[in-house]
Amino acid sequence: MQREISRVEIARVLRVPHPYPENGAAEWIATAAEPGRDFAIELRETRELVGSIAINPHEQHRRAEIGYWVAVAHWGRGYMTEAVRAIIDYGFRELGLNRVHAECHGDNPASARVLEKAGMTYEGTLRQHSFRLGRFADKLQFGILRSEWREE
Ligand SMILES: CC(C)(COP(=O)(O)OP(=O)(O)OC[C@H]1O[C@@H](n2cnc3c(N)ncnc32)[C@H](O)[C@@H]1OP(=O)(O)O)[C@@H](O)C(=O)NCCC(=O)NCCS
Repeated sequence: MQREISRVEIARVLRVPHPYPENGAAEWIATAAEPGRDFAIELRETRELVGSIAINPHEQHRRAEIGYWVAVAHWGRGYMTEAVRAIIDYGFRELGLNRVHAECHGDNPASARVLEKAGMTYEGTLRQHSFRLGRFADKLQFGILRSEWREE
């Protein structure tokens, strides 16, 4: 996790400092918030960690935002699509949510594609919404409602 989060390809789209501090991953794991919110993604056969996915509920509104990354060497193998589908299912089934949503940068088509493949709907763009590593970036909004999930 330390190695991957330190990479600019990952850090440029996550809400983590870059350069990533030494021991940043170990400290984050040691202080990880509530159980059932942050999940490691590992390969079934080897148990190698290849990414992680988080779900952050807002209880009053019965919605949650998700965020995720996959190790660069494992991109394009369908791992994140599988993980996003699983966490949407978890959000509706286990957490009783009404809505699961995510946002991704306008120049991150792989992430947008993952969200669409997992059944989310593109809901709009917040133009130049963030300033990250020296440049402004659009934020694309995606979401899925409980009523839509049941239809799948
Ligand atoms: C985005 C990310 C999570 C995708 O993970 P992944 O396991 O490679 O995703 P999948 O293999 O399930 O699907 C990727 C899809 O994006 C597509 N894709 C990849 N690069 C693309 C590009 N430049 N333009 C358009 N589509 C692209 C792939 O072809 C695939 O779609 P397909 O199955 O229709 O062919 C991974 O690239 C990553 O960790 N990126 C850095 C961190 C990040 O962006 N996190 C999300 C923040 S919102």
